[in-house]
Amino acid sequence: MKIEKIFENNQQWIADKLKKDEDFFVNLSKGQNPYMLYIGCSDSRVSPEAMMGLEPGEVFVHRNIANMVPNTDLNVMSVINYAVEHLEVKHIVVCGHYDCGGIKAAMHHTDLGMLNPWVRNIRDVYRLHMEKLDAITDEGDRHKRFVELNVEEQCVNIIKTAVVQKAHRDKAITIHGWVFDIHSGKLIDLGIDFDGVLEGNMGIYRLS
Ligand code: CO
Repeated sequence: MKIEKIFENNQQWIADKLKKDEDFFVNLSKGQNPYMLYIGCSDSRVSPEAMMGLEPGEVFVHRNIANMVPNTDLNVMSVINYAVEHLEVKHIVVCGHYDCGGIKAAMHHTDLGMLNPWVRNIRDVYRLHMEKLDAITDEGDRHKRFVELNVEEQCVNIIKTAVVQKAHRDKAITIHGWVFDIHSGKLIDLGIDFDGVLEGNMGIYRLS
C-alpha cells in the first residue's frame, strides 16, 4: 500500500465517523475512560480493537513481541500502573496468539543478537514448564501449549505487582488470559484464577 493511501483512508474514516455521530471527535477529545487494559503481541495480524469489536476510547493498549510482562520492564510496568491507578480499568487482559513469531524464536536455537535478552524472557517460561512442553511430541501442538502457558505466566507477572493486588482487593479488578486463534479468528479464554495464583508455592508473591 502506498503511504498516500493511508491519508485518503483517514479522510474516509473521519467522514464515516461523523456520518454516524457528528459529535464523535468532540466527545473523543473530552478524555479517555477505558474499562480495560489489553496487553498483546505486536504481530500485525492481531488487531485488538478489530477482533474485540471496540471503538476508540474503550481499551488502553500495550503491545510488544510475544505479549510479555517482564518484571523489570519499565515500559509495561508504567502502562499497568497508569491504567490501574489513574484510568482505573476494571479488567486487564493478556492476549497471546497461535503462530506467534516470538514464541517460535524461543523454541529455536538461533542467535538473534539484539533480540536475545527479550527472547530469554520467553525461554524462561519454557524452562518453568519444560516437563509438560517436552512431553508434547507434535511441534505445532507444543507451540500452541507454549503460547497458552506464556499467557498464563504473564498474567502471573501482573498479579505479582502491588498495584494490581491492591486494586483486586479494593476494586475487584480482574485479570484475563486469552489466546487469539489466528486460524479461526476466535478468542479463547484460558480462565485465570487470581486468588489461586497467590496461594500454595506462589504465596511468596503475596504483598499483604
Ligand atoms: Co506474536
